[in-house]
Formats: sequence, C-alpha cells, structure tokens
Amino acid sequence: MEKDLIIPTHVGIIVDGNGRWAQQRGLSRSAGHREGFTRLKNICIYAQESGVKYLSLYVFSTENFKRAKLEVDFLMNLFVSMFHTEFQEIMDRGAKIVFSGRREPLPKEVLEAMDEMAEKSKNNTGTVLNFCINYGGQTEILDMTKKIAQEVLEGKLTIDDITLDTLHDHLYQDLPPLDFVIRTSGELRLSNFMLYQASYAEFYFPKTYFPDFTEHDFDAAIVEFNKRNRRFGGNAS
Ligand code: IPE
Ligand code: IPE
Ligand code: MG
Repeated sequence: MEKDLIIPTHVGIIVDGNGRWAQQRGLSRSAGHREGFTRLKNICIYAQESGVKYLSLYVFSTENFKRAKLEVDFLMNLFVSMFHTEFQEIMDRGAKIVFSGRREPLPKEVLEAMDEMAEKSKNNTGTVLNFCINYGGQTEILDMTKKIAQEVLEGKLTIDDITLDTLHDHLYQDLPPLDFVIRTSGELRLSNFMLYQASYAEFYFPKTYFPDFTEHDFDAAIVEFNKRNRRFGGNAS
C-alpha cells in the first residue's frame, strides 16, 4: 500500500463473479466459490494490515436461496469449514467478527459456527469483519421497522422519539456508514447490499472476478477512492 493514502474507515465488498470465473475455466461453480473464499481470506488479512477498521463482506444474499440446492448446500458447508479453519487466523490477528442477516433459514451448523466466532472474538479490538450472510438491505430495514414498532407498542418509545439515531440503533450491527463499496465482476448494481448504510458511499466496480482479485487490485481500489471528492451534499471544495 502506497504511503499517505486515506484509508476508508468502512469498506464493503460485494464478492461477485465466482461462478463466471469457474465457467471460464470449465470448472464447477463450487470450485469458483472455493477459490473465491480463499482469496477473500487473504483480502481480509490485507485490509486488516492496511488499516481498514470496518470491513463488510457480502457473501450470501437473502435472494441467493433461489439458487440450486446443490450450490446453496455447497456454500453453507464452505462457510462452516472456512469459519472453522481459515478465518480462525483472522481472529488470531485481532479481528472482531460480527454477522448481519436473518438467522432463518440458515442451517444449524452454520449458525453454530457463526455464534462460536462471534463469541470467541467479541472482545477483540482490531478490524471489525461484518459478514453479511442471508442478508438483504430491504429485510434489514423491515426488521428494524418491526423492532421499533414493537417498542412503540410496548410504550418504550413514542413516535416523536424516533430519530435517525433510533434507526441506526436498530440495524443489525452498530457500524459507521459505508465509505467505499467494491463490487467485483463488472456488475453495476448493489443487489440489496447495505442500502441504508451506503447513502454516501463511493462505488468502485472492477471487472475482475473475485477469485482473481488480488492485494494489488485492493491497492488500486484504495488509490481510486483517494481520487474521489466527497461532498456529502455540501459545496465542492
Ligand atoms: C458470488 O459469486 C458469490 C455468491 C453470491 C455467494 P456468484 O456465484 O454470484 O458468481 P457469478 O455472478 O455467477 O459469476
Ligand atoms: C450479490 O451477488 C450477492 C452477493 C454477492 C452475496 P449476486 O450474484 O447474487 O447478484 P445478482 O443476482 O447478479 O444481482
Ligand atoms: Mg453473481
């Protein structure tokens, strides 16, 4: 990483292109996912070393349950095995692991592995790694709305008490807004990723499929972020 670059506080990565990467090589989609997740582990370590404080990783959307059962099952097993092996090293390097998404209908083994990682790393003070699994931005807003409505019904909150801070406090995780979202594979869309948190994020869409996304590509992304002029609705400087 070049010196004197501003490192975005909260980076989101939409991990995409595993399937096409495999297809290009005549391999199964599963092989693409395996390769993609090994790469992801290395990118997490690199982002951690580069000083990224919050890293949100979109690895399975609520809509991804529409895929063939074979692929969904493979991904679920891959999450469990990665959590038990590769991602232990990341925790050992001080990362705190949190999860965003609905628990239902994730398999028990996945939930157990997630709970174990969250519990084991809860006092870690390094980079926060937020895994978005069975995550949808719309569902997060729906779940937030229901929690707030319930508190109003129970008399814990009045309508006038509801502020933007209240909304923030009822999201899945307590994270700062996204500064920078990277989506690999060339698709130019959010696909339901952190809709609320991305309001003033900068976006970057490299064409690279995720299994080919290297530390060098991550550096190039940060260089691109440094070229952006963020205004947050104010005047141009
Ligand atoms: C992203 O790769 C990984 C997940 C959604 C879990 P894809 O599986 O979407 O790969 P493409 O988009 O089909 O190439
Ligand atoms: C978005 O990728 C979800 C994740 C990367 C986890 P998809 O591959 O599912 O998105 P679409 O279907 O191309 O929009
Ligand atoms: Mg995709």
